[in-house]
Formats: sequence, structure tokens, C-alpha cells
Amino acid sequence: MELNDTITHDETAPAEAATASSKKVFMKTYGCQMNVYDSQRMSDALAVEGYQPTETIDEADLVLINTCHIREKAAEKVYSQLGRLQKMKKERAALGRDMMVGVAGCVAQAEGDEIIRRAPVVDLVIGPQTYHRLPDVVRKARAGEKVVETEYAVEDKFEHLPTAPRKVVRSRGVTAFLTVQEGCDKFCTFCVVPYTRGSEVSRPVAQIVAEARQLAEAGVREVTLLGQNVNAWHGEGPAGAEWGLGQLLFELAKIPGIARLRYTTSHPRDIDDALIEAHRDLDILMPYLHLPVQSGSDRILKAMNRKHTAADYLRLIERIRAVRPDIAMSGDFIVGFPGETDEDFDATMQLVREVDYAQAFSFKYSPRPGTPGADLGSHVVESVKDERLQLLQALLFKQQRDFAASLVGRELDVLVEKPGREPGQRVGRSPWLQPVIVDENAGEIGDIVTVRITKAGSNSLFSEPV
Ligand code: 5AD
Ligand code: SF4
Repeated sequence: MELNDTITHDETAPAEAATASSKKVFMKTYGCQMNVYDSQRMSDALAVEGYQPTETIDEADLVLINTCHIREKAAEKVYSQLGRLQKMKKERAALGRDMMVGVAGCVAQAEGDEIIRRAPVVDLVIGPQTYHRLPDVVRKARAGEKVVETEYAVEDKFEHLPTAPRKVVRSRGVTAFLTVQEGCDKFCTFCVVPYTRGSEVSRPVAQIVAEARQLAEAGVREVTLLGQNVNAWHGEGPAGAEWGLGQLLFELAKIPGIARLRYTTSHPRDIDDALIEAHRDLDILMPYLHLPVQSGSDRILKAMNRKHTAADYLRLIERIRAVRPDIAMSGDFIVGFPGETDEDFDATMQLVREVDYAQAFSFKYSPRPGTPGADLGSHVVESVKDERLQLLQALLFKQQRDFAASLVGRELDVLVEKPGREPGQRVGRSPWLQPVIVDENAGEIGDIVTVRITKAGSNSLFSEPV
């Protein structure tokens, strides 16, 4: 799932740490929720080093860009940002002030010291598997060294997930991400993730449960388990029992205070019986499933190395809908993969009609250097990709609107998350992730309230108290 142009910032980093000598960090986060989560962790680690977050780039002593490499556009954005920062740094230097620039995330991992060669403004480059070394890296960079930190051992992979100081956690509000798994061994032929995030590693049960408890104690009501391949998570339960994500969800559902659970992103091949049972038996597991399929054509699915057919995918959804009829589906699609014909594209449109998505993300294929897809011949011309994307998005958008419209008049449980833009309003979330505008008298932030949906807007639902 893409969160473009998100500026992460933490309004509530511990006040007592703000001393006259404290420095400021401005962070900009691109890409998926894993990056959002990582940015929060980096912010926590830097707070311990005396760096306060700021939303004003002009007052930043350190500008850290957390990057995404998934498509060319996302990666190129980094270099245009660095160009602007170069200019800014020069202007600052003329005033006798310094500004450090760091690049983190998947572009950092993929390009390493090439970034510093191409953009000399950069002082430090740090990959997602080495964030635990960030304080050290920043210290070195402050001493004038250009630092590139992207080498890691698999055993170290979760070192960068220290337990955050509770004060910082509480500030994050009533919803939180919790990384349970990182990396991917699936090697879809279009995807850079197995190269930038490395091979699949699962966090141990005890660590996950401890972090979830801590979040709950800090007032978090909804926890979203994160992983590039979250349902490939596996671990050891009591008495050496082999656990998958389903068993983990049952365990997390026991934690007092947690009222909602979600997980993302899943691969169709890793949905097992226990996970389907979790959807059947756990009311607090939200009826929303992001399950990318990428294409509806078996030929293209094979070329993408997805290792499932369109029929496998549809059957899976049928099984889940049989036990949880209100589940809303979300997906990711790529149009214009090399060799995609009109018939292949029609098969995708057909699959979309059959599934009826509540939400979806669709992209034009972008060849990524080093992935097998990039070396395939028969690339689809850009204008055809554009045309297909437009058709697909029109259909997906219509499904999304129809789904929202179908909720008008219904009573829904909404988790109240934050104050609204208008006085007297608060914003909450439906079970299907839609923002819902609620009256402030409906409930406090953190409450789950029942409201009646009165109107479906383009992005949010409106409601009245019941
Ligand atoms: N080109 C276009 N889209 C891509 N995605 C991943 N790699 C590429 C690529 N090379 C999309 C997939 C994935 C989502 C996170 O991004 O749909 O599920
Ligand atoms: Fe990329 Fe495929 Fe792994 Fe998803 S499953 S991260 S698309 S390689």
C-alpha cells in the first residue's frame, strides 16, 4: 500500500529531552507502511540522541529521507529531493549554519554509496536492516565522515526494533503498526523487495506479544501487524508448537485493551486454515483483507512467478467469504507487465468484476534494475499501459464508491481516532478502514462507537449518532 508524500512527525517527543543544545530532525517518508513504522522507530532512536522532530525543514539540523524503491518514479523522486536539499545546504552554509542529509530505506539499500557519488550533499546512507546503528552513524557523520551503512547479518535483522520509550509510544494515538515479519523469499519477477529488504525473517512470539502489550498499556486500541509478506510469519508457540499468523492473531486477541487487529500485506499462497479460522472466530480481527493478485491472467501470473492461478485466488476468497461474509477485499494490480496482451488485460478486468473490491491499488509496470522482469523482451508500450491503467482504475474506483454507498443507512462500529477538521467533529475509522466523520459527543478518542452512516463522500463517510 502506498502512502505518498507523508511527512512523519511526532508532536510529542519527550519534552524533558528538549534542552538548549537539542537538535532538530526533519523526516520525510515515502512508500509503504513498513517505512512509516521504520520512520517512527528512527525518530525514537534519534530522540534518545537529543534530536527533536520538526515539521519545518528550515530549522532542521538533520534531514532524513526514508525512501521507496518499488517503482522507478518513487526512486527518482529521491534524487530530485536531494537536488533541492543541495541548494538549501549551500544557502545555509552561506549563513554559517550546517545541515546534515541522510538517506534511509530501500533506495539506500539498493544503491548504497552510489547515492553519495550522484548526490554529494548526502552525509549518511543507511539501509532498513541497520537502523539500530543509526545513532552511531549520525555521530560519525557529525564528525565529518561520509557514512554508508547497508551491510547486515540476518541474525541482526530485528536489532533495529528496540522497545520504544513508553512516552513516545503513547503519543502515537490509538492505532499502531507492529512489525512481525520482514523481507520476502517469493521473488515475483517484477519486484525489488527480496533484494532491498532481504530474505524472510519472523520476529519471535514473545517479542511480538510484549510489544503488543506495551502498546495496549499505552492506550493503543487497534494494532496492525506489518510484514512484506505478513502471512508468511511463522514462530514457535507453547510446547514447541509451530505457529502461523492465524495462531498469533488468536494469541494477540487475548491482550486486554486491544479492540481491533489487522494485518498487511499478504500473499495468496500463505493463507492457511488457521488464518481463515481466525477470520471466522475472532470478532476483533477486522473484516478487511489486502490480498494482492497483480493480474487476472494465468499466463502473466506465471511470468510474474506468483505461483498461483486466477482460479486459486478466487477460490481462496470464496473460502474466506464463506466464513466471514462481510469481509471487504483490497488488492494490488500491475498493468503492462512484459508480454501482457489485450486478452490478458481483459482477464484482469474480469477478475476484478468477480471479486468486487472495496479498495485497490493499481500501477503501471515499472522495470526495476536487477529483477528478472526487467530483462524480459516484449515490453508493453507506454500509451497502452496508460490506457489499461485508466480502464482498470475507473472500474476499481466505481467498486470502491459503490461499496461506500452501500453503507449509507447502516449502523457501524467506528474507532474514534482524532479530532476532526471542523469544530465539533472527530474522525474515526470503519471496520473497512474508511475514515468516518463523527460528532464529538459520540465518544472520546479511543472509544469504539456505533453510528449511523448518513452520506458517503469521496474519501470519507459521514455519520449521525444512534
Ligand atoms: N512495477 C509496478 N508495480 C510494482 N509493484 C511492485 N513492483 C512493481 C513494479 N516493478 C506493486 C505491486 C505490489 C505493490 C506494493 O507495488 O502491485 O503489490
Ligand atoms: Fe514483492 Fe512478490 Fe515478495 Fe510481494 S510477494 S514483496 S510482490 S516479491
